[in-house]
Parts: sequence; structure tokens; C-alpha cells
Amino acid sequence: MSRVVEVRLLSARDVRGGFKSKDHHLDSFFKKHALNNQIANTSTTWIALCEGKIAGYVTLTSVAIPPKDLSTVLTDLPPYPTVPALLIARMATDRAWQGQRLVGPALFRGAIYPVMKCLLGSVGCVGIKTDAKAGAEKFYARNGFVTLPSPDEGASATTPMFLATAVALAQMAAAQDGDAPPVPTASTTPPESEAHVATRPRLSLVTGPPQSAPPEAAAAEDDGKGS
Ligand SMILES: CC(C)(COP(=O)(O)OP(=O)(O)OC[C@H]1O[C@@H](n2cnc3c(N)ncnc32)[C@H](O)[C@@H]1OP(=O)(O)O)[C@@H](O)C(=O)NCCC(=O)NCCS
Repeated sequence: MSRVVEVRLLSARDVRGGFKSKDHHLDSFFKKHALNNQIANTSTTWIALCEGKIAGYVTLTSVAIPPKDLSTVLTDLPPYPTVPALLIARMATDRAWQGQRLVGPALFRGAIYPVMKCLLGSVGCVGIKTDAKAGAEKFYARNGFVTLPSPDEGASATTPMFLATAVALAQMAAAQDGDAPPVPTASTTPPESEAHVATRPRLSLVTGPPQSAPPEAAAAEDDGKGS
């Protein structure tokens, strides 16, 4: 099996019908809503291609987080009502490729880290948040995420998890060098250096008029919570 993975933005030409993770909601979101949400400018969806087939996807959007929700991870945040972060809204790998430490890491390298860096250099970004579905916590923890205190004291089916920008940048650099990701620290201060802020990654963003979407999905909205 080829180990080459290409990561790029989802387009109207991409055939999504055959994608199957182990989660029906994540498959349904990808097939029915991901492109429409991208056309509506509410999120972007990035796909990983292996052997020309869609092997995984991640849907990204922004989120505003009250600093108190991050008090176990970040100190010295300004006393604003909210601070900006990147949200992994959905993420899934096709069954055929799951657990190979190939597609997930490729989506981090090719989409999540570069988008975070782009936000950091343009509007600010304190880190990456996700609401991990049961079973996916280990995957995010291995990628440096720490668990946040649950706002509903564990009543939700998902686990809020967070990766501070400073840790993400270190892991991004290590991934580029081909090193294993460093062990994350439980509490990390925001980056003090502005060196990385000046460097913006090259991203393939959708430009020009919106592409047309399949009519059956045109009116569709988001279908659930959790990434
Ligand atoms: C979680 C997921 C996106 C990770 O992508 P991936 O390409 O399999 O990533 P990796 O190969 O780097 O990581 C595999 C790790 O993910 C975890 N994992 C979660 N769900 C898994 C699954 N269905 N199959 C295999 N591993 C899974 C395992 O802990 C595994 O760690 P291990 O190798 O130490 O056992 C992918 O496994 C998946 O789509 N799972 C089902 C849907 C889901 O839970 N999505 C996340 C929603 S928050």
C-alpha cells in the first residue's frame, strides 16, 4: 500500500460517496454538509488522498473560548470575554486507513497546523480545540492535546480537549524535521516570540465565486455535535 498522502481542500469534484469511517454521523456530515458549509464560509474541509482515494478528512472552523475554560492549560490570558482558537469540528479516517499513523498525522501536518499558523499570523490563535468523541481521546492525547474541565461535568458524550499554540508550533516543527512529536506539557504559556507570527504558511484557499453544490444538500445544515 502506498504511503504517499496528499492533503488539500475539498472541492465539488471530489467523490465522497464511498467514504466510510466507523462513525455514521461523521460519514453523513462529510457527504452531505462539508462542502455546503465550505461554500457558506462557515468552515473548511481538508481531505487526505491515498492512492487517489479520499482516506480521511478534517473540518476546521474558528471558536471563541472564555479564558476561564483554558485556565488549566494557559496562564496570563487577557481578561477578555473570549479568546480566539481553531476548532477541529469533525475528523475521520476511512476504515481502510485507520490506526496506521498515516492519515491522522498527515491531516495535522497538511491542514491543522498550517491553518493554525495562518490564524496565528493574521487574527491571533491561542490553540486548537476539539470535542473528542468516545474512543478518539487517545488519538488527540498522542498529538499533544490535554483534556479541559468539562463544562457540564461529564454529562456530554464528548470530551473537550485543547492543544496550546506553543505546543502545536513545536510539534509542527518536529513533524517537518521528521522527529517524533515531543511529549506535551500539562500547562503551557503562550508564545512570547513574534518570529513565527511573521511567517504565514502557503494555503490553498478557495477564491472566486462559490462553487455550485448538489441540490439535495443545498439546504442542509450541520447534523450534530462532536468531532
Ligand atoms: C480518530 C481518527 C480520526 C484517527 O485517525 P487515524 O488516521 O486512525 O490516526 P492514527 O493512525 O494516527 O491514530 C490511531 C489512534 O487513534 C485511536 N483511534 C480512535 N478510533 C480509532 C479507530 N476506529 N481505529 C483505530 N484507531 C482509532 C487509537 O487510539 C489509535 O492509537 P494507537 O495507534 O495508539 O492504538 C480515526 O481513527 C477515526 O476516524 N476514528 C473513527 C471516528 C472518530 O472517532 N473520529 C474522531 C472524532 S473526535
